[in-house]
Amino acid sequence: MKLSTLWKMMGGWRFPTTVRMAKMLGETQRASWLAAASKFGVIRALAKGALSLDTLAQQFAPAPEHRAGFAAWLRHGVLLKQLRQHEQTYALRGSMTRRMATDDAYAALVEGMISVQSNGLYKSLERWSAGESLTLADVDAGTVARISNMLTPLVEEVLEANVPADGAHTLLEIGCGNAHYLRHACGANDRLQGHGLELDAAVAETARRQIDAAGLGARIDVTTGDVCDAPLPTDVDTVLLINLLYYLPMTQRAGVLGRLAESLAPGGRVLVAGYCAGGGLGSNILDLWFSAMPETGPLPTTEAITEDLEAAGLSVAPPRQLMPGDPYMLVVGTRSGS
Ligand SMILES: C[S@@+](CC[C@H](N)C(=O)[O-])C[C@H]1O[C@@H](n2cnc3c(N)ncnc32)[C@H](O)[C@@H]1O
Repeated sequence: MKLSTLWKMMGGWRFPTTVRMAKMLGETQRASWLAAASKFGVIRALAKGALSLDTLAQQFAPAPEHRAGFAAWLRHGVLLKQLRQHEQTYALRGSMTRRMATDDAYAALVEGMISVQSNGLYKSLERWSAGESLTLADVDAGTVARISNMLTPLVEEVLEANVPADGAHTLLEIGCGNAHYLRHACGANDRLQGHGLELDAAVAETARRQIDAAGLGARIDVTTGDVCDAPLPTDVDTVLLINLLYYLPMTQRAGVLGRLAESLAPGGRVLVAGYCAGGGLGSNILDLWFSAMPETGPLPTTEAITEDLEAAGLSVAPPRQLMPGDPYMLVVGTRSGS
């Protein structure tokens, strides 16, 4: 190739943007490769040790007509420096794949770069151009739930600071997922009684199984229902609303916070924790998804949460930012009396 041809192909004096694009290509391919390798179990399989092409193909691409493509897929992992190849055998390479094999929330974050982040940015515009919307059915809910486990230590810290470690206490969690926080609170206070409300029947069933497995069946019950209209327990000391408010359209939020205020015992508190509007790349993706879906709504502002809790008759402490650099906020409303 003549140097002048190479120069033309690189964009001439604009060659730095070609170099940047080539770098981006590598990073995008690495994210896609790692996301697939994690989601479909290749990383887990190789975490136990090196495997031959035959063994891997039997598990991940058993049809003979897929063999050549699968070999090229593995070679891509080698080119991306995520796999090491020795003759026809492959092993994991690098600290990232090893962490993904053992840290599920971290693996979910990498998987989510494709199924949540790329998909959100790409599909939203694709749908809008066609006059359509993203819907809750488009959300990779399993991966989102696994990613939110990254926040577990932080929410546990909030619980430890806000729920007494002894004495009788009733805790209600709305949108309790697998009831991890209710189980954690029961572990910290042996007189605590927990109630969970969960919209998704399958998730609620998993929560009940995990509660029974932890021997907490007599202390925690989980009801399937929608916080907008499900019957709520009364005389509750603490209501938790963690990572949930944006699941509700704007028009329903004041009503829901009002219902939660009514469920409180005198002196009881509603703890609202979650990402609020105005964050960086990670939380703005959440805002994009939840603003884009007709069933849900944008990330809230702390002003709106405060206003709704005050309208429900609660006194509200100044909001606290729980995480440096990102608006993951805690707003606490307290009912008067003791
Ligand atoms: C992001 S998850 C949070 C789970 C848990 N609170 C946590 O932080 O790990 C939100 C949960 O709220 C549930 N949910 C969404 N809308 C709800 C509603 N209207 N009523 C009750 N639960 C709801 C979802 O099914 C999901 O399990």
